[in-house]
Amino acid sequence: MAERVLPQHLGIIMDGNGRWAKKRGLPRSAGHAAGAKVFKQMVLYCGDIGLKYLTIYAFSTENWKRPQKEVLSLVSLFKIYLKDALDNFLNRNIQVRFLGDTSVFDPQLRKLIDEIKEASVGHTGMVLNIALNYGGRAEIVRAVRLLAQDVQQGKIKPEEIEEADIASRLYTAGEPDPDLIIRPSGEQRTSNFMLWQSAYTEYLVMDTLWPDFTPADLERAFDIYAKRDRRFGGI
Ligand code: IPE
Ligand code: IPE
Ligand code: MG
Repeated sequence: MAERVLPQHLGIIMDGNGRWAKKRGLPRSAGHAAGAKVFKQMVLYCGDIGLKYLTIYAFSTENWKRPQKEVLSLVSLFKIYLKDALDNFLNRNIQVRFLGDTSVFDPQLRKLIDEIKEASVGHTGMVLNIALNYGGRAEIVRAVRLLAQDVQQGKIKPEEIEEADIASRLYTAGEPDPDLIIRPSGEQRTSNFMLWQSAYTEYLVMDTLWPDFTPADLERAFDIYAKRDRRFGGI
């Protein structure tokens, strides 16, 4: 059998938890709980099939606009699943990284994040980026500030700045750009996810709501991806 063309880097915008709950007459928090279970299942599945990089959009810089009750229910799920990651994923050689400004979270969540980063040191398996309080624009602003500091300190001249100088100051520094970004739940927008990195990413919107997403949906996405003709501006 021919070798399957898997993306090297897959991004997933977890979406549709609220609608999934609403359809069942449940509170939105129940949708998030169901979505978090799928998050874990997908991470383990992607690790098992040998994916190199997986980036999951879990909480955006705009999600703070939601009612405080919902934000708190999300934060409490992050704690449960990061604790679970410490106990489960990390013995699978997975390297967990965080994209976004996590300094704003409460001390308990920050401590878990630090423990996970520490436990990941030396791991050589799949890189799992968890985008938490992440926004593509905020990420670019941060990179520009870092560059401006370097200009101010005379480390680089404005006319010397190249694309690579921005890329190396993003949260994803050193990682390949995503090849495929999947957005479940049918919404056709980026919602501020990996703006810089997705210049030539293949986008796939799927109708399945995230809590209903299964490995079979992922396999379907990989089949569609394998048939795409990526030209990167060439012919
Ligand atoms: C995704 O599901 C979870 C987060 C954004 C954290 P939503 O909560 O956005 O679900 P819908 O889009 O309202 O259905
Ligand atoms: C994007 O989903 C953010 C995450 C999945 C973390 P949203 O549900 O927040 O996006 P919009 O509001 O529909 O664009
Ligand atoms: Mg949504």
